[in-house]
Amino acid sequence: MIEFKDVSLVYPNGTQGLKNVNLTINPGEFVVIVGLSGAGKSTLIRSMNRLVTPTSGELLIENQNILNYRSRQLRQLRTKVGMIFQNYNLVKRSSVMKNVISGRLGHTGTLRSLLNLYPKEDLALAYRSLQRVNISEKVYQRADQLSGGQQQRVAIARVLTQQPNIILADEPVASLDPPTSHQVMTYLRKVNKEDKITTIVNLHFIDMAMEYADRIIGMRAGEVVFDGPASEVSEQTFEEIYGRKIREDDLVGGPEDE
Ligand SMILES: Nc1ncnc2c1ncn2[C@@H]1O[C@H](COP(=O)(O)OP(=O)(O)OP(=O)(O)O)[C@@H](O)[C@H]1O
Ligand SMILES: [Mg+2]
Repeated sequence: MIEFKDVSLVYPNGTQGLKNVNLTINPGEFVVIVGLSGAGKSTLIRSMNRLVTPTSGELLIENQNILNYRSRQLRQLRTKVGMIFQNYNLVKRSSVMKNVISGRLGHTGTLRSLLNLYPKEDLALAYRSLQRVNISEKVYQRADQLSGGQQQRVAIARVLTQQPNIILADEPVASLDPPTSHQVMTYLRKVNKEDKITTIVNLHFIDMAMEYADRIIGMRAGEVVFDGPASEVSEQTFEEIYGRKIREDDLVGGPEDE
């Protein structure tokens, strides 16, 4: 499904974002990427929908090297690969429904979307997606009137409405409190299992990584330094990835801690 073949990325200022990354991510996997700040987690995630472009190697998605894609192919790629951000990236002044239906943009075309000419099936799909993350009662509310956790659920509904094969999430819970973080991770995990959408998530907290991941990838200085099933990961594994002892602030704590 996703294959990195000796992928490196050097930013224009000379910083090495990725260094000789070799990885295969299988269909339906729920992968969590961990590592210290600056390790290259966002760079790895963002290369998979070409928000950044690796400078060497090959990156195959569904057997096609996306590194030489140009505008039309990039649009198609971004329709297949959905993205969830730390700050939700909703259009604040628009309604929840407008935000969620915009997940169909890549399928419907810009003109029809601007005119709000979405097919009935798309509106139904958007509503069902809101129901799946338990927030359909907010459908006509303005996005900026929702709490952070509610906004992130709307962002998940938007990505579901897009019907992607892959979901990328860059620190999706970094702005949320612990109980809300667990709730959002639970929804991400649920849609991964129900729809078999390959999901790749960056997380800061190691207890969350262990609780939700099928597989954990550890990064340091742009390199993959650990790759294995979550069940095989121990405190020592994290100390090796981080290059230091685990601290209390590496843990989010359970929902029961609040
Ligand atoms: N646009 C850029 N130009 C130059 N260097 C960059 C750019 N973006 C990131 N970097 C550098 O590349 C390295 C990897 O950054 P990246 O954002 O991928 O790390 P990260 O693991 O996501 O960190 P964090 O946990 O803080 O989000 C860092 O040294 C960072 O400073
Ligand atoms: Mg990052």
